[in-house]
Amino acid sequence: MIDPSSLVLATGVHPGLIATLKTFSPPGSRTLICTPSYNGFYGDLRASKTIAEDSMMTVVNGRYEIDFDDFERKAARCNAYLLCNPQNPTGNVWTEEELLRMGEICLKHKTVILADEIHCDFVMKGQTYTPFASLPDRDIVNNSLTFKAASKTFSLAAMKAAWFFSTNEDFLNRVKENHRADLTSLGMVANRAALTEGEDWFDQALEYIDGNQDFVASYINENIPLITHRKAEGTYLAWLDVSKVIDIVGAKETAAQRGRISTDPVTPEMVMQEWFGQNARVDLNAGSSYGTGGAGHMRMNIATSRKLLKIALDNIAEALDRLPRV
Ligand SMILES: Cc1ncc(COP(=O)(O)O)c(C=O)c1O
Repeated sequence: MIDPSSLVLATGVHPGLIATLKTFSPPGSRTLICTPSYNGFYGDLRASKTIAEDSMMTVVNGRYEIDFDDFERKAARCNAYLLCNPQNPTGNVWTEEELLRMGEICLKHKTVILADEIHCDFVMKGQTYTPFASLPDRDIVNNSLTFKAASKTFSLAAMKAAWFFSTNEDFLNRVKENHRADLTSLGMVANRAALTEGEDWFDQALEYIDGNQDFVASYINENIPLITHRKAEGTYLAWLDVSKVIDIVGAKETAAQRGRISTDPVTPEMVMQEWFGQNARVDLNAGSSYGTGGAGHMRMNIATSRKLLKIALDNIAEALDRLPRV
């Protein structure tokens, strides 16, 4: 049970994360991120002038897993760890065992855990969300802060409201010195209405999203052999392995050529974003923006009607069918 007096309101998860990074991570220090990981975290690091320490996850039997040896080596030189549960973009819902292991390592190396649980309501059937603050180890929980919002659950991002909390009063007091929330009356009213009266609506929305996740997974597995995908455990995102397509369309070569004349880096995944836009009229997010582990992938937002989703997938399947066979 969270002590309501320990909740700090914020104008978004990002402002809370940035204030916390500024509190625990001096400019130039390193922040641990398990990649592929939410691209917005890299913006938070820029805002707090800290450096990303990417720990690449590995795919084991189709699921992303943390390489705990690498994680520990890197945690040892980081002031903070940005944890995302459920994870954007892979959709992983971390188990209690995994969270405890991350927690133990971070506690050992005095790496403060920032648990971003903004996607916590999007948990697919058969999966269990474990709030970091509910872990059965007081010291591990006291080494963390948790960040949440209703903005994903009720599509209220424009209302600019979120909250964070910690069982560690000292942590919270220190963060509050670097934090200020400019909330709006409309945002407060909208959040209150959603949180107090939106449960039935969300139960139906979640059922629908779970159906979308099943639909996308079976559609891709049955009809798009060039893309590898596994149903996400959580979130409304689909993480697509398009590395075969990258090879066939020569996206690495195109990216290298463009990179020579561009002031900004050009990645094969950026080339693919353009390619899918032009050839399938579907806008996917380039995997390369999710850290080093995002290579060869694209992220698809599936929080839409099944009808639209089918059109998007049909378009992708047709565009890939037009490619020369190799
Ligand atoms: C993991 C994660 N954290 C934070 C955010 C955004 O948070 P906010 O709009 O509250 O700053 C997003 C939005 O995509 C997200 O996926």
